Amino acid sequence: MSKIKVALIGVGNCASAMVQGVYHYRNIEKEEDAVGLRHLSLGGYHPRDIEFVSAFDVEARKVGKDLSETVFSPPNNTLKFADIPRLDVPVLKGPVLDGVGEFLKNVVKIDTSPDADVAQKLRESGAEIVVNLLPSGATEASRWYAEEALKAGCAFVNAAPAFIASDAAWTKRYEDAGLPVVGDDLVDQVGATILHKVLLKMLVDRGVRVTETYQLDVGGGTESLNTLERAREAKRIVKTRSVETALPYKASVVAGSTDYVDFLENRRDSYFWVKGFYFGGVPMQLDIRLNTVDAPNAGSVMFDVIRGTRIALDRGVAGSLLSISAYAFKHPPQMLPLETAEKWFEEFIRGKRQR
Ligand SMILES: NC(=O)c1ccc[n+]([C@@H]2O[C@H](COP(=O)([O-])OP(=O)(O)OC[C@H]3O[C@@H](n4cnc5c(N)ncnc54)[C@H](O)[C@@H]3O)[C@@H](O)[C@H]2O)c1
Repeated sequence: MSKIKVALIGVGNCASAMVQGVYHYRNIEKEEDAVGLRHLSLGGYHPRDIEFVSAFDVEARKVGKDLSETVFSPPNNTLKFADIPRLDVPVLKGPVLDGVGEFLKNVVKIDTSPDADVAQKLRESGAEIVVNLLPSGATEASRWYAEEALKAGCAFVNAAPAFIASDAAWTKRYEDAGLPVVGDDLVDQVGATILHKVLLKMLVDRGVRVTETYQLDVGGGTESLNTLERAREAKRIVKTRSVETALPYKASVVAGSTDYVDFLENRRDSYFWVKGFYFGGVPMQLDIRLNTVDAPNAGSVMFDVIRGTRIALDRGVAGSLLSISAYAFKHPPQMLPLETAEKWFEEFIRGKRQR
């Protein structure tokens, strides 16, 4: 298969895990050896078919360096699980816009070199798919890069919680340009929201009356610090609404409050607490903790999204890719129950569903 040429917007922790993942899985040939991947081969594409051809950031310790070095440059603090050879992809300076919030101004050192002509650089690099990994709250910047991707004739994958793929005006513009768009806000492979919903559904299915539940996250990556300032309330609303759909009746639900503990680095502790009543009205409580590293939690889903988007490009499908968006994002243009989203995605990959 030919290479899938990808441009990265924001070379933070999530980008680091993706670039490392391509090298980690490079020589794996059998599904049973592909620990941590849902699909080793997807529509004939292997993770090693993903090639990062350009990258943009604003951090002084990242701009101008080779991408292979940048993924380990501070303030990135995720786990190193693969060696990356020199890629000959210099990280270019993008416009800052609303990319760096107040809380991050002491952590991120903004590079002072002039901004690159992003659309031009995307064209020169041969990028086919632009992946937006800007921080939460960088809404203006996310839209600005979506515009540059359009100008350069690239598909757009929006992993950040800015509304682009779920916005009818943006999807129409991508459709008119003959380009696919997917998003918004990536779902983790083993994330707190999915685990919380599956737990509640299991309890409801087994006759338990859940009366109270909360789920709280603590992390130490820049995205956790940034969320504290700019996206805490919005994330809490989106996550609480999503979790409430797992209960067929009203209960007291709080989900997704986040706090920042610097020494956790990119680790994330997710706490789940549930109170309910089972047989005979007897009370029960459930109290568990999920411990993950944040960035690698995006890798498997992201590899499926990138390969799925390339399949859409191969087939000439433009506009909103409903199946990929519902399968892999928290705020898709059309929200589907989990099993339906997975079924649609597999049908799309097999060519049995157009989008
Ligand atoms: N598990 C995951 O990692 C996961 C899951 C779901 C969604 N996401 C989303 O992915 C995005 C990235 O997460 P992350 O943990 O990598 O964040 P991060 O803070 O580690 O990385 C963000 C990067 O963007 C750069 N940046 C800021 N403004 C910029 C601009 N104007 N132009 C170019 N670069 C700019 C920063 O310097 C930084 O390198 C977030 O929106 C997050 O919500 C991540």
